[in-house]
Amino acid sequence: MRPDETTSPPRVLVSAGPTHEPIDPVRFLGNRSTGRMGFALAAAVAERGALATLVAGPVALPTPVGVERCDVLTALEMRDAIYSRAGAVDLIIMAAAVADFRPRSALPRKFKKSEGVLRLELVPNPDILAGLDAVAPRALKVGFAAETEISDAEAEAKLERKGADFLVVNDVSRPDIGFAAADNEVTVYQRSGAKTFFARRPKDELAITLIDLFFSSLAQHHEVAVTTSLS
Ligand code: CTP
Repeated sequence: MRPDETTSPPRVLVSAGPTHEPIDPVRFLGNRSTGRMGFALAAAVAERGALATLVAGPVALPTPVGVERCDVLTALEMRDAIYSRAGAVDLIIMAAAVADFRPRSALPRKFKKSEGVLRLELVPNPDILAGLDAVAPRALKVGFAAETEISDAEAEAKLERKGADFLVVNDVSRPDIGFAAADNEVTVYQRSGAKTFFARRPKDELAITLIDLFFSSLAQHHEVAVTTSLS
């Protein structure tokens, strides 16, 4: 579909970065995500003239030009920020590395070493992506999977389990791609059964390629005006 006056640009929600789950006022559980891939995706959305909102975990990155940003700390805060916006968007990209567990309750004061063993009880966080269908049934949904090894069958099962239309899989056991690296290399699995490999390239470049792929799918299924290098 070509852009015209009767359609509006797609509205896109992107999550990025890790979440921090507090143990006490100075300590937290987290992960190695830097947010670079999610920020690059939000920047690519804005570059294509679409409306991007970025829900960012704690990261040290500047807000891309033309992107609206909401900062959060924990998985529960991220869920609330996403679910309150999800109903109003066409595409939701879950690039965040959401912590799967959080301490049942954060200690109200700093735990002293002299107090001996600190036992943590961890409870599962809600799966934000898997819950999106209930709040945004019409939106196209994209999940990311940071894996050390995954088979096609496992990737397809995760796509199904998460209710996603796309799953972007990258290998985090390689130091040259993935967490904290400038480059990434991914395989994209689609609900339709398609599987596409995108060889190693800078995250900014990969972000444009992925956004064009998602936008062309949006153009086929939704009444939105889309500008991509594919159109
Ligand atoms: N995700 C989410 N909420 C969570 C955990 C993950 O929305 N509590 C999203 C991530 O943003 C990502 C996708 O789910 O887009 C895949 O995350 P992953 O950690 O690979 O999924 P898990 O179900 O935790 O799979 P595994 O058991 O293999 O770790």
